[in-house]
Amino acid sequence: MREKDEESGGTGSLADEALLARMRAAPVLAGPLPRFDPEDAPDTPGELFARWLDAALADGVPEPHVMTLSTADADGTPTARVLMLRGIDSAACAYDFASDSASPKSGDLAANPRAALTWYWPAHGRQIRMAGPVTVLGDGATRRDFLGRGEASRVAGFTGRMSQPLTGPEEYERERRAARDLVAAEPDRIPATHIVYRLRAREAEFFQADPARFHVRVRYARDGDGWHRALLWP
Ligand SMILES: Cc1cc2nc3c(=O)[nH]c(=O)nc-3n(C[C@H](O)[C@H](O)[C@H](O)COP(=O)(O)O)c2cc1C
Repeated sequence: MREKDEESGGTGSLADEALLARMRAAPVLAGPLPRFDPEDAPDTPGELFARWLDAALADGVPEPHVMTLSTADADGTPTARVLMLRGIDSAACAYDFASDSASPKSGDLAANPRAALTWYWPAHGRQIRMAGPVTVLGDGATRRDFLGRGEASRVAGFTGRMSQPLTGPEEYERERRAARDLVAAEPDRIPATHIVYRLRAREAEFFQADPARFHVRVRYARDGDGWHRALLWP
């Protein structure tokens, strides 16, 4: 049931107002931004994602492989967090990410194996949304993902229990030391909780911002073996 918030919705303290004034003065979608002609959109979102990622990498857009993963638990309570894109299968329109199988997000995905991924690349004014079912990849993919990482990332993978309360920096440092020793002694070992997920998009949306606010939105939805493509009002 939808409840109305009886608060007036105004700003809070003077400090909040000052913060808000500075925030509103910050430029957004100031450009110059690339143009996107929907007439040139390919038949599949996998191909358009690859094109946009290629352009982001070529232009040095910061951290284009960082994306927001949104999940919901069995009750429908949503949570979102930032993750790294770890694998791409453009033909299947599938995107991989890795995490800890004991983390809250993994609990959500076990209860409700569907998710959404969102990328926002401010330097290009581009937002991409993908949503669909999520599966767990097998041992081979898990090994490749983990062993393909740098040492610091592998040490982090053996450190601690993701999202559990931490008593303090001493406990963290102790576990890090133990993880560093373990990685040095057994460089091929994979943490038992390392897990790689694959989201296979069922729908996708590409938003190209325009400094004059004539934004372009293209939505793809699976249609049999192919994709249906349509424009959306921005
Ligand atoms: C730039 C960035 C990249 C991250 N990449 C990952 C990642 O690839 N996998 C992961 O599990 N957590 C990653 N995190 C941490 C998550 O945002 C999150 O804090 C953590 O996974 C716990 O989420 P959960 O409690 O919802 O399970 C990253 C955080 C940042 C800021």
